[in-house]
Amino acid sequence: MLHKNPAQSMIALFGLLFCMASATQAQHAAPKLANVTILATGGTIAGSGASSTTTVGYTAATVGVQRLIAAVPELAKVANVNGEQVFQIASENMTNEHWLTLAKRVNVLLAQSNVDGIVITHGTDTLEETAYFLNLVVKSRKPVVLVGAMRPSTAISADGPINLYNSVMLAASPEAVGKGVLVAMNDQIQSARDVTKVNTSTLDSFRTPELGLLGYIQGSKPFFYRQQIRKHTTETEFDIGALQVLPQVDIVYGYANVGPVAVDAFMAAGAKGIIHAGVGDGSLAARVKPALVAAHAKGAVVVRASRVGQGILARNGEANDDELDFVVADTLSAQKARILLMLALTKTTSTKEIQRMFYTY
Ligand code: SIN
Repeated sequence: MLHKNPAQSMIALFGLLFCMASATQAQHAAPKLANVTILATGGTIAGSGASSTTTVGYTAATVGVQRLIAAVPELAKVANVNGEQVFQIASENMTNEHWLTLAKRVNVLLAQSNVDGIVITHGTDTLEETAYFLNLVVKSRKPVVLVGAMRPSTAISADGPINLYNSVMLAASPEAVGKGVLVAMNDQIQSARDVTKVNTSTLDSFRTPELGLLGYIQGSKPFFYRQQIRKHTTETEFDIGALQVLPQVDIVYGYANVGPVAVDAFMAAGAKGIIHAGVGDGSLAARVKPALVAAHAKGAVVVRASRVGQGILARNGEANDDELDFVVADTLSAQKARILLMLALTKTTSTKEIQRMFYTY
């Protein structure tokens, strides 16, 4: 618009400049950060050693969540972080009851509109089990990321701080929504269903052999290349809302010279399910098979898994599962098969239904 009066023109010009400055400011305004809650459970990530070179033989679960957060001020750049100490344990002491408590807390938090994602700090020894349990019972598409460390917080080049930073960034990222429960260690993103700890002490201990990791973390960004296609979180049929205990399921290991003692002992102790981690393709030794048949006759569900660690457990391969009325674990490790069988037994004892679940999750 043309103004004949010079004063009017000046006012119009100032108005235009003000609008342009405001628009530029809006463009550069900091993006709104996601709200991430860190649930701390202990482990080496919260461990301390006698000296900076102590990388084995340290004490796990000594450092509290607020100190973990304070040690990584960079977290404030990627999320609004809030910490809760849920447990303070070494993860070999994780129990079914801990899992129920943790999962219920996760579900309560994720139902809140002011929580966008969860990070769980955890000992690495059973991290994959907690991750898979949560993968089956969390009722939200919001990101849940498990993280640990192979070196205690006091060690030279401790991996905890960078792992924590990466996991908070991942839990805050839109890319992680709907991907199921994730594990972020060593700059890699793994799926809860398939990841496993493969080394006692090195930094690259978390792997998904053969099936592969989901992606990487680089330059404070997640890069996904694959997705978990087995059903998880909101797609599962499991509801732990009212559960106080999980059915007792135990694991029997296969080896040369194995006998029936372990199966019989677990049955005497009240097992409702037995996972047989057999040799090879889940073969049943002649001295163990009758004990498993007897366990089944007493009402226990028997699942054949393998101690090998890779591959599909062939149904009706090394044993006639149809005739024995046994279930096979598909590609699940024995420790993860135990989790799925416990949850399956909260719904049914039908082996046909349970087999369907093993091919679904
Ligand atoms: C644990 O699992 O609590 C101890 C080992 C670790 O965190 O690496």
